[in-house]
Amino acid sequence: MTITPAPDVLTAAARHHPVSGSGSPHPHAVSFRHVSKRFPRDGGTFEVLRDVSFDVPAGEVLAVLGPSGSGKSTLLNMAAGLIAPDGGQVMVLGHPTDGNVDWSRLGYMFQDDRLLPWRTALDNVTLALETGRTPKAERRERAQSRLALVGLAEFARSFPHQLSGGMRSRVALARSLVTEPDILLMDEPFSRLDAQTRTTMHEELLRIHDERAMSIVFVTHDVEEAVILADRIVMLSPRPGRLHTELEVTLPHPRLGTKEALELVGELRAAIAGMNADWVI
Ligand SMILES: Nc1ncnc2c1ncn2[C@@H]1O[C@H](COP(=O)(O)OP(=O)(O)OP(=O)(O)O)[C@@H](O)[C@H]1O
Ligand SMILES: [Mg+2]
Repeated sequence: MTITPAPDVLTAAARHHPVSGSGSPHPHAVSFRHVSKRFPRDGGTFEVLRDVSFDVPAGEVLAVLGPSGSGKSTLLNMAAGLIAPDGGQVMVLGHPTDGNVDWSRLGYMFQDDRLLPWRTALDNVTLALETGRTPKAERRERAQSRLALVGLAEFARSFPHQLSGGMRSRVALARSLVTEPDILLMDEPFSRLDAQTRTTMHEELLRIHDERAMSIVFVTHDVEEAVILADRIVMLSPRPGRLHTELEVTLPHPRLGTKEALELVGELRAAIAGMNADWVI
């Protein structure tokens, strides 16, 4: 497995990768096309993303790696239709996002957990189902089973302030999964978990992905996590974020601790070292 460090990268393998089936009529869950973004600062503006193009093929798990401030969260916010690009276009399931994202098909686990402090863990998870037509009893049942999945069955009645940081992020994970979305956006979903829980969550996520054939886009600083989980890795350069590397990962699962996975981790780390960026692990 080699890494292509050119800025305009699409590896041949990535270009010709067949679309794995989620049953979606759209070959790409999300497409970023020449996306650029500036934010206001100190009376002027500064450039956060420059001409970023890549696709998330339907059914794939895609990891976005990049230094702090390179625009990773901004990309997810664009996929969710919460932020509009200044240039280029973001498409979800073949439709431009221009304020039109179908939230019933999208799950979003934000970088901060965004739990409502006055609601219990269970009620924070049911929240994601309250805009739909799911009857109350079923909402509670589904939420409870998702909390069990993330190891928090016994904490359903706890309030966020009674939970540790790692537990709160697991509640947020349960909430993002409870709607059974077609596309799951996850912003550093496992960064606050201890190593053992993180490994368990990795296995769970891959199991859920196998069952549901959904598309997952997750942001991480952790190169090993990207290699263990992703079918495809996109790496951004330091701000303004540009596409530094895109590669397909075809190693069979489970990958944790395998020679090939470790080699790929080493190659990616070398590419990061070459970036000379402020990389936060
Ligand atoms: N709504 C906003 N208004 C102004 N500036 C913003 C806004 N959102 C993000 N930024 C700035 O844009 C840059 C990129 O932010 P973003 O959160 O996308 O980075 P990131 O790659 O997710 O970083 P991290 O790894 O630290 O989470 C940062 O410098 C941030 O301060
Ligand atoms: Mg971020």
